[in-house]
Amino acid sequence: MQTTQERGLWSSKLGFVLAAAGSAVGLGNIWKFPSEVADNGGAAFLVVYILCCFIVGFPVMVAELAIGRKTRRNPVGAFKVLSGGKGPWFLIGGWGILCGIFILSFYLVVAGWTLSFVVAEIAKMFGAEALYTTLSTISPGVKTAIFTVLFMVGTVGIVLGGVAAGIERATKTLMPALIGMLLVMIGFVLTRDGAMTGLTEYLKPDLGDLNTTVIFSAMAQAFFSLSLGMGALITYGSYLDEKESIPEAAALVTTADFSIAFLAGLLIMPAMYVAQGAGIEIINPDTGALINSDTLVFAVLPQLFDAMGGLIGVIFGFAFFVLLSMAALTSTISLLEVPVSFGIDELKLERRKSTLLFGILIGAIAVVVSFNFSLIGHFDLIFNQIGLPLGGFMICIFLAYVWTLRGAFTEMESGYPGVATSTFGKVWSVFVRFICPLLILLVFITTVWTALGL
Ligand code: TRP
Repeated sequence: MQTTQERGLWSSKLGFVLAAAGSAVGLGNIWKFPSEVADNGGAAFLVVYILCCFIVGFPVMVAELAIGRKTRRNPVGAFKVLSGGKGPWFLIGGWGILCGIFILSFYLVVAGWTLSFVVAEIAKMFGAEALYTTLSTISPGVKTAIFTVLFMVGTVGIVLGGVAAGIERATKTLMPALIGMLLVMIGFVLTRDGAMTGLTEYLKPDLGDLNTTVIFSAMAQAFFSLSLGMGALITYGSYLDEKESIPEAAALVTTADFSIAFLAGLLIMPAMYVAQGAGIEIINPDTGALINSDTLVFAVLPQLFDAMGGLIGVIFGFAFFVLLSMAALTSTISLLEVPVSFGIDELKLERRKSTLLFGILIGAIAVVVSFNFSLIGHFDLIFNQIGLPLGGFMICIFLAYVWTLRGAFTEMESGYPGVATSTFGKVWSVFVRFICPLLILLVFITTVWTALGL
């Protein structure tokens, strides 16, 4: 086994929180969350989502970090070590890595779209919009594939360098900039006609909107947005210093991620109705459903930047898409780091080889997705919506009944003295043993039940 020194460590406590928050905050917050809200009854979804983040997500995050730091391994290795090499437990990690590979393959496509908007804004600045539009309409598939591959090249470049100080540094400036930008844009959108309809939809819960699909989607969204269920935070936890308090770090990351998603909702929900009022078709007038949730944000935001007018709008659009691309980059890095660390620890590859191997493999799948957008929905359902909560369920069961609470508390003790007898420790132990796995199971059972029409 490598020593901690060889594996690398985050440079400081803030460094870890920044890297983990960088992983969590991404397209999940700004692209996926608002579409899920709009798709699933607005405020009713928001309420269930908050509960899922803090009641299920936070305890699972603590579990992942503790497993990672204890074993200093990739997900497969971590479960192997803790189960003494016995039984099929390592498969939890294997499933996680598989989910990560497919999630990254469609995530890259959306990240590529984001990047293409950066280029579109640059084209506007130089008055070359018509040229850009013509070029990009010749073959949308090729255009998407090019930006997707560019994004993967950037991701591979950073992961090649190892646990990069770069991730920490990028996130430190990125996060406040993103929050500032969101706040300004929220301020602007709320002055527009139609905004209040969206705001009410977002913040005024109507419990009649609640159903099993809403709950299932909210749970899945919490796992996706917090980067949970596939071992990304086992991997990041494996670079975490002994002295750090795991519960505290997890609480900070959960809160930061939730806050940014909440702000994105405050922007997109009103913007959706403003855009609708301006003649952009977003909601199907007959069914009241979203016409295309994958492209919602990309339809709504450019309209908003145009409404800001002239150069200001273009500069805003440019800055926003740059920030979003960077937020996506700190997330793709964490997704790629999981299979790469598996390659290093288990397949005994050098970092360079492992990164190139998985980079090319996932890049190739992403290119296929670029030409077949409908794959996004399928991959999302299997590897995200089902895969991640399933992974979270197994992580809880494994921690509670194989590794045992005593093991987890001993690991957390170094950064949080007295954790086992603290209020946090008592509450967490009930959640990780019973409440989290039961809630996940319940959501799955009722969803299947409803889907089968029983
Ligand atoms: N959480 C990121 C987002 O919201 C995406 C992400 C990064 C992720 N790493 C992950 C999702 C691991 C699931 C698992 O954009």
